[in-house]
Amino acid sequence: MLNKSFKFVISIVVVFAFSSLSAAELSKERINQVLKEAYSKYKGDVGGKNADYIKALDIVDSKIFGITIVDKDGNIYETGDTAQVVSIQSISKVFTAALVMSEKGSKFVQEKIGVNATGAAFNSIIAIEQHGGSASNPFVNAGAIQSTSWVSAKDSTERWAKISANMSAYAGRNLTLNKPVYKSEVNDNKRNQAISKLLDAYGRMGSDPLEATTVYTKQCSLNVSSHDLAVMAATLANHGVNPVTNARVISAKYTPKIMAIMATSGLYDNAGDWLYDTGAPAKSGVGGGIIAIIPGEFGIAVVSPPLDSYGNSVRAQLAIKYIINELDLNPYAQ
Ligand code: DON
Repeated sequence: MLNKSFKFVISIVVVFAFSSLSAAELSKERINQVLKEAYSKYKGDVGGKNADYIKALDIVDSKIFGITIVDKDGNIYETGDTAQVVSIQSISKVFTAALVMSEKGSKFVQEKIGVNATGAAFNSIIAIEQHGGSASNPFVNAGAIQSTSWVSAKDSTERWAKISANMSAYAGRNLTLNKPVYKSEVNDNKRNQAISKLLDAYGRMGSDPLEATTVYTKQCSLNVSSHDLAVMAATLANHGVNPVTNARVISAKYTPKIMAIMATSGLYDNAGDWLYDTGAPAKSGVGGGIIAIIPGEFGIAVVSPPLDSYGNSVRAQLAIKYIINELDLNPYAQ
């Protein structure tokens, strides 16, 4: 009969033999190898189409393809056009919602904006009516315009300064405005203006609706690269501390809340398929970026402008899925 300590050693060996490498045990070589594989596998993919409802996005180079991973220690792995900037668009919604959460608490975001999926397009108006005058969550346009309106400030100039400084702190550098994109959208913004007025009628806005829509449009027009986006995502992964600058940007008590909304609503009405395939909270933008988070471990970002019918970058989804599955990073599998 086997004695107790021998049985214990055997069981440890069995556990190690059958478990995959944890994120902490992945070598830098392996991460770089999978990153390069993802790049070469999807570089030639011609699926999707640039957003064209914002005219300046239609003329962005569709070939841009950059992939960056940043780990919790600030190590950076990247390949392709990782310094090439595009407008952040809806990915900005994550960071402004996080700012409102820091200022007003997580209950406020849950009760005033909502944290449920809409099951509708990101710019849906009917979804507001169907949910009793609520945006449902801060990642559809309605909820994002609401978040912007709730950032405490004496006027819209101060509100914009706080929002851009907040996103810059997540990126670890001073993000600048893409003026052609901003002009293009701000002059053709009637749908978002209508959304803001409707929410105002339901008593949901924190400041003047049209002013908030303009500031929201500006926040969507900040330029970011896949490098910037991965640092921003890694800050959320690293419990609110930017792993490159070491600055705390948000309290650790809020990052799980933000990631929860990313999981249910980050990729809009395709969020279920995304979570099923990757397990990773993520957020897309019509500029072509997607961020994904492996909690406690990595921020992953890809920039590639052509989008699918949900408004999510085609190559970014393919590359991130490949990386997560090849490196066994699905958080539900840990
Ligand atoms: O308000 C808009 O329509 C854009 N500024 C942002 C939309 C967006 O990025 C949706 N994301 N995939």
